[in-house]
Amino acid sequence: MNRLKIAIQKSGRLSENSHRLLEECGIKFSNGTSVLKTSARNFPVDILFLRDDDIPQYVEQQVADIGILGENMVFEKNKDVEVLEQLGFAACRLSLAIPREDVFAGPEYFNNRKIATSYPRLLSQYLSENNITAQIEEISGSVEIAPGIGLADAVCDIVSSGSTLLTNGLREVITILKSQAVIIGNKNLDDEKRSILEKFLFRIRSVKKSRENKYILLNAPEKAIGEICKILPGMKSPTILPLVEKGWCSLHSVVREDDFWERIDQLKAAGAEGILVIPIEKMII
Ligand code: PRP
Ligand code: ZN
Repeated sequence: MNRLKIAIQKSGRLSENSHRLLEECGIKFSNGTSVLKTSARNFPVDILFLRDDDIPQYVEQQVADIGILGENMVFEKNKDVEVLEQLGFAACRLSLAIPREDVFAGPEYFNNRKIATSYPRLLSQYLSENNITAQIEEISGSVEIAPGIGLADAVCDIVSSGSTLLTNGLREVITILKSQAVIIGNKNLDDEKRSILEKFLFRIRSVKKSRENKYILLNAPEKAIGEICKILPGMKSPTILPLVEKGWCSLHSVVREDDFWERIDQLKAAGAEGILVIPIEKMII
């Protein structure tokens, strides 16, 4: 039987979340640190552990059928692959950074300077769009130390928390692009692999939905229910159960987590009490 080959990052910013996503999709696999390939026990997929930089090329060549990696790498490598789903984790940005003490008046700063990066394609695109003439010094790792050791004047690199820049005395001055984890796929999968992929994407979407939504329970006076439903617009046809105490009821529904945090004070003012917000493990709509 055909198996879908999924490439994920072997070690780095995306690997832990990629593992967790597969596990939450109910895909069970063993995961020794030195293993490069493993087969899931309960779903027709094989998992390949690769450098994220190589994943676009491997997916294009169908060494892997699909891959989980940052959009930043997908845009940089510009391979002939399809972006199938945005995953909402590993948010980061590709930014230009300069020595902290340097004065920065605008992009002209970079004219005739040397910029170290692992993203030469995206950087040169940015430079030409902004009519800047700078020298690109391509290096594959530890880009942030380049100015400190005299290899370059500035860097163009991935920033997530910003702590790497901080510890290297650098300051972010321009964001070139924003990125998050995505799934990419080969464009020529056969029907059998497409059907495994559809099942896999269905699971991923259920996991994503469950992360964005919470199950909410609260008690409120019956007369406040209309008002409460207006405060939480995502709350469609809530379940309402009477409480022993006359005139009171318990309301159960699903809400977007963001909506909930925005409106907690309004809910309380409307009379909601004993509010419980509970994670949802899977959400199938
Ligand atoms: C990036 C970048 C920094 C780090 C920044 O590496 O090169 O090392 O993340 O993160 P911070 O702002 O939270 O300190 P990434 O994992 O994207 O690259 P790699 O695959 O080359 O290790
Ligand atoms: Zn990498």
